[in-house]
Amino acid sequence: MKFWEALLLLFFLSEVLSQNKRNPKPNVRTPAQNRKGASSSGEAGRSLSAEEVPPVALPPVENVLVSQLRSPSQAPHPVLKSVDDMKLCFLRNTSVTCNDGTTAGYYLREAKGNKFWIIFLEGGWCCYNRETCDARYKNIRRLMSSSEWPQTKRGTGILSAHLDENPHWWNANTVFVPYCSSDVWSGTQPKGRHEYAFMGSLIIREVIKDLVPKGIKQAKVVMLAGTSAGGTGVLLNIDRVAALLEELEAEAVQVRGLVDSGWFLDVKPSRQADCVDATSCTPTDAIKKGLRLWNAILPEKCKQQFKKGDEWHCFFGHKLYSSLRSPLFVVQWLFDEEQLRIENIQLGIQTLMENQWNHIRNLGREMKNSLRDVAAVFAPACLSHTLITKSNWMDFQVKSVSLPRALHCWERSFQESAKTLKTPLRSCPFHLIDSCQWPHCNPTCPAVHDHTTGQEVNVKQTLLRMGLDLQKKAQELKVDPGNPMGMFRNGG
Ligand SMILES: *[C@@H]1O[C@H](CO)[C@@H](O)[C@H](O)[C@H]1NC(C)=O
Repeated sequence: MKFWEALLLLFFLSEVLSQNKRNPKPNVRTPAQNRKGASSSGEAGRSLSAEEVPPVALPPVENVLVSQLRSPSQAPHPVLKSVDDMKLCFLRNTSVTCNDGTTAGYYLREAKGNKFWIIFLEGGWCCYNRETCDARYKNIRRLMSSSEWPQTKRGTGILSAHLDENPHWWNANTVFVPYCSSDVWSGTQPKGRHEYAFMGSLIIREVIKDLVPKGIKQAKVVMLAGTSAGGTGVLLNIDRVAALLEELEAEAVQVRGLVDSGWFLDVKPSRQADCVDATSCTPTDAIKKGLRLWNAILPEKCKQQFKKGDEWHCFFGHKLYSSLRSPLFVVQWLFDEEQLRIENIQLGIQTLMENQWNHIRNLGREMKNSLRDVAAVFAPACLSHTLITKSNWMDFQVKSVSLPRALHCWERSFQESAKTLKTPLRSCPFHLIDSCQWPHCNPTCPAVHDHTTGQEVNVKQTLLRMGLDLQKKAQELKVDPGNPMGMFRNGG
């Protein structure tokens, strides 16, 4: 709770102060009402096997451990099957494996005759040396082994089979590829004795090959989607998937990418980290170490732009984007919780310093800048992580447009491309970035959850409870806050 209190205090305080400078009357828009997002549990990993997926799809090992301890028995018991469920298939090529040597696989819900395919890559950060991988194996084995995967999986959000949850793709051929290679879907390294395999990129390849008898070559559109590390996996593999389908003589298939919360920034750490465990390594450190361990393959054209040893740049969307050929849609919260976590921003209330607060605001600004030239983008100014597999994914809006609608408009732009429309249709936009400046200035933002208790944080009540602190803080900063609580009166 403390971290969030501190964070929110500073967000709103700063906003009040800057508003006061512009306007003698405090005139602050209300924080998000937290009406939404009670079901942030709408992760794609939800299934009837009672396997709880932590609220964040890309959690530090410690958080995962905590939530695993809290979650009920993991034993996969026989479940009521429904036609809605996706069914587990193991790869035919049994030498393409998860980290521990068990054969990798995918979940499939077929829609015979439908020419739209969505192939979804699961997220869950990565491991990049013996220590981090051993800890991961101990704590979250399903991300490294297929040995305990349930037989079926229920899709949520864009993977849902229900029209009301998923108006455009409920009837698509839907494939969920569990993440069990811990390599941001980039690896090609088979298992050695006493070592782990890292075969993420090869797993995607084998999944596509195994889908040929299921009719993927007759598809009109194959959309490779992913959240978090899975989103980065889309960036890294999309052009290879397109090339493979060409190789398989499915040239008519249009390959597209949907990257959710996988657009990370390689910002400098706010403090010197020595990179000994998962929490102290910056993303860049982790990726540099991981590249060698995983025997990672990177998109060829991007790789050519950097000299040997600097290829790690190609893990970051804004450096990779311009060299990719396949069309991409990028979904990204401007204040991505995971980006903040891997930058070690999650500190106690006493240690959240002014420079860290500035850092958070900068993140939003830099994220926005990095997305400016992306043709298709949906970026709400919220603190959150992952979107497309949340059950309530339709609730979030940017400039009054929901993500399913924006995706639909993006789809339409391909149909109308015969008319060589360069600019999107006025009435059907798909370049949507919030212009307001602070986290949760968008009233449709999802609820914030406390990381240690998992409880929902009511932003407004939290701030009201901290009223005294708010005034004290303002005095410390020697600025007349006017009435800091005034912000709740205006349209409270
Ligand atoms: C299985 O996958 C491995 C690794 O990509 C590859 O070397 C091998 O040729 C594949 N086997 C078959 C039968 O496709």
